[in-house]
Amino acid sequence: MELQGRRVIVTGAAGGIGSAIAAACARQGALVAAVDRIEAAIGPEDGLPAEAITPFIADLTEPQACSELIAEVGESLGEIDGLVNCAGVMRRGDLLEVDDDDWAVTFGVNVDAVMRLCRAALPSLIAAESGAIVNIASQWGLQPARGHIAYNSSKAAVASLTRSLAVDFGAQGVRANSICPGEILTPMLQQKLDDNGIAESELASTIPLGRLGRPSEVAELTTFLLSDRASFISGAAIEIAGAQQVGS
Ligand SMILES: NC(=O)c1ccc[n+]([C@@H]2O[C@H](COP(=O)([O-])OP(=O)(O)OC[C@H]3O[C@@H](n4cnc5c(N)ncnc54)[C@H](O)[C@@H]3O)[C@@H](O)[C@H]2O)c1
Repeated sequence: MELQGRRVIVTGAAGGIGSAIAAACARQGALVAAVDRIEAAIGPEDGLPAEAITPFIADLTEPQACSELIAEVGESLGEIDGLVNCAGVMRRGDLLEVDDDDWAVTFGVNVDAVMRLCRAALPSLIAAESGAIVNIASQWGLQPARGHIAYNSSKAAVASLTRSLAVDFGAQGVRANSICPGEILTPMLQQKLDDNGIAESELASTIPLGRLGRPSEVAELTTFLLSDRASFISGAAIEIAGAQQVGS
C-alpha cells in the first residue's frame, strides 16, 4: 500500500495502459480520479472500496478542460499529489503523408493536453511537498519508428517537457519522470496488428525478451515512480521495452 492516502489523476483511464495504471494505483491505496473522453466501465475491482476509483469524463483537448478537471477533482477528492498523463493518440505517416490536421490532433492530445494538465496541477503538487508526475511517452520518442513522424515527435516532446518540469520544480519538491514503453499489448496495438496483418508472434520475435509487454508491467513502474520509493528519481525517461531496438 505504497500510495496510501495519496490522490492521483490518471488520464486515458479507459484505455489499455491507463486502466491498468488506475487499478494499480487504487490497489496501492490511492484515491484515483480516472479520466477519459469516453465512458467506460472504469471502476474498482473486487476487494477495493467503491470510492477507490472515481470516473471523470473530459476531452482534454478542450481549451478549459484541464483547469476545470483539476478544480473538479480537488472539490470531489481533495487536492492531488500525483498526476499520470496516459491519454494518447497515434496518426501514422511520414512528413509527406501527414497533413496539418494529423499533426494538430497528435500534438493536441499527446503534448498540449499534457502541458496544460501539468500546469493546472502544479499548485497542488507543490503544496503537497512530495508531488509526482508520470507522463507516458514512448520508446518511439527516443528511437523514431519509420512512418510515424507526428507520433514520434510528440512523444519526444513529452520526454523533454517532463525533464524541464523536473528541473524547474525540483526545488519545490515536485518529481517528474516519463515512461517510454515499447510494444505493449493493448487494444490500440492489437488494432495496429490487425490492420497490418501482423501476427503477435511475429512482432514478439523482434523483441529480445521474446514477447510483448503487458499493461500491468507499465502500471507497476508507474506506481513505483509515484511512490516515495522513487524519491531521488526525477527527470528520467525510462524505457520499458524488453530491450527492443526500433529499426530504421
Ligand atoms: N500500447 C503501446 O504499445 C504503447 C507504446 C508506447 C506508448 N504508448 C502510450 O501509452 C498511452 C496509452 O496507450 P494505450 O495503448 O493504452 O492506448 P489506448 O488507445 O487503449 O488508450 C488511450 C486512451 O486515451 C484516451 N484519449 C484519447 N484522446 C483523449 C482526449 N482528448 N481526452 C481524454 N482522453 C483521451 C482514449 O479514449 C483512450 O481510452 C498512450 O499515450 C500511448 O501513446 C502505448
